[in-house]
Amino acid sequence: MPVTDILNTRYGLRRLLQNTAYHATDGGIPKDDLTADKEPHVHATIKELAAAIVENPAVLLVDEYTEDVRRKDWKTLLRKEVMNKDTDTILGLDARSRPGHKILDHHMPHFYAVANHKGISVESLAQRQETVEKALLANLAMHSTPYKSEIRRMLMMTAGLSSVTKYRAAVAKAVVAYWGATRVLDPCAGWGGRMLGALVGGARAYVGCEPDPRTAAGLRAILADPALPALIMAKARILEMPVENAWSTLRTEEPFDMVLTSPPYFNLELYTGGPQSVTRFPTWSQWVAEWLEPTIRGCLALLKPTGVSCWSVKNIRTDRLYPLADEVDRIHAEAGWELKQTITMRGSARPGAGRIQDGKETRESEEETYVYLRKSI
Ligand SMILES: C[S@@+](CC[C@H](N)C(=O)[O-])C[C@H]1O[C@@H](n2cnc3c(N)ncnc32)[C@H](O)[C@@H]1O
Repeated sequence: MPVTDILNTRYGLRRLLQNTAYHATDGGIPKDDLTADKEPHVHATIKELAAAIVENPAVLLVDEYTEDVRRKDWKTLLRKEVMNKDTDTILGLDARSRPGHKILDHHMPHFYAVANHKGISVESLAQRQETVEKALLANLAMHSTPYKSEIRRMLMMTAGLSSVTKYRAAVAKAVVAYWGATRVLDPCAGWGGRMLGALVGGARAYVGCEPDPRTAAGLRAILADPALPALIMAKARILEMPVENAWSTLRTEEPFDMVLTSPPYFNLELYTGGPQSVTRFPTWSQWVAEWLEPTIRGCLALLKPTGVSCWSVKNIRTDRLYPLADEVDRIHAEAGWELKQTITMRGSARPGAGRIQDGKETRESEEETYVYLRKSI
């Protein structure tokens, strides 16, 4: 059996332990019982498994799903209740519920190549033998199953790397359905959560700009996926270019009902290629004045008089604090738009000490979508 088959297999590593008492246990194992002296065979297997991951990080980083699983995932997203029909409000959405995301994960194999502002990515960590060994050992101590997702989480923890954000398709579905938007513009399309969500939420047209060639290819692959209904997928169009190059094309389009986007968060996430906004405008003041502000104003100009402008942003801290959400708010206010609604996901705060107590989320959600309307409406 190839050593990589241990990944995602229940008790995959535990059943190799010399101490048989731990073979089928689900709880934690004290680190003292997992030393190389006591468990030489497991340590050797971990070394071998880590070497296989370092040689081919895709075995850890890529989640592939069969056509059948992707079809079911689509149906789950389609059936996902997002509206409370009695009160005509959006139901509380839980960040841990991810219908549609197996489709996204399948088609975005480069997701873990996204780096933080220091250039560190999960992919770069998965290429370090010692780091991967540590992550595997920590996983063995804590979990019965060496889930790929858990090992990736361990790698992130060792480097203090925060997760790359992926906008939930269910949230996009809720926003689009609540506002009854039929034509949706996404100036920074990203991983495809808003595209899928808009399509199941009732949009008759979704237009997205995406300059990263790998991400744009992933979006096109989603639209061509045989597991998904071709008639619905035909309603979406991807412009493989930065939004600043797309205005002339977008101005020829019928006006939109909704802008729904999550722009790059300045230098929080460094994507894998193409003319990225932060490469073109490398300082915060330049980026805000020459990219963010023209992008927001350009999008507002493409909306119908009753259109809504929805931005998933937050104030971020990387090498310093960057008040992105405040800037988005200021730009809308100066353009004559006001905040009408804030859509929050439960449980979307980034992992941190003391976050969960007695099984309850103790910190405010950090991932919100701000919905702006023209002041006169
Ligand atoms: C991935 S999204 C932000 C994350 C978000 N939470 C999500 O899940 O969609 C940001 C996207 O903007 C794209 N981008 C970067 N520069 C851009 C530009 N000038 N115009 C349009 N999109 C851009 C990036 O390639 C990236 O895919």
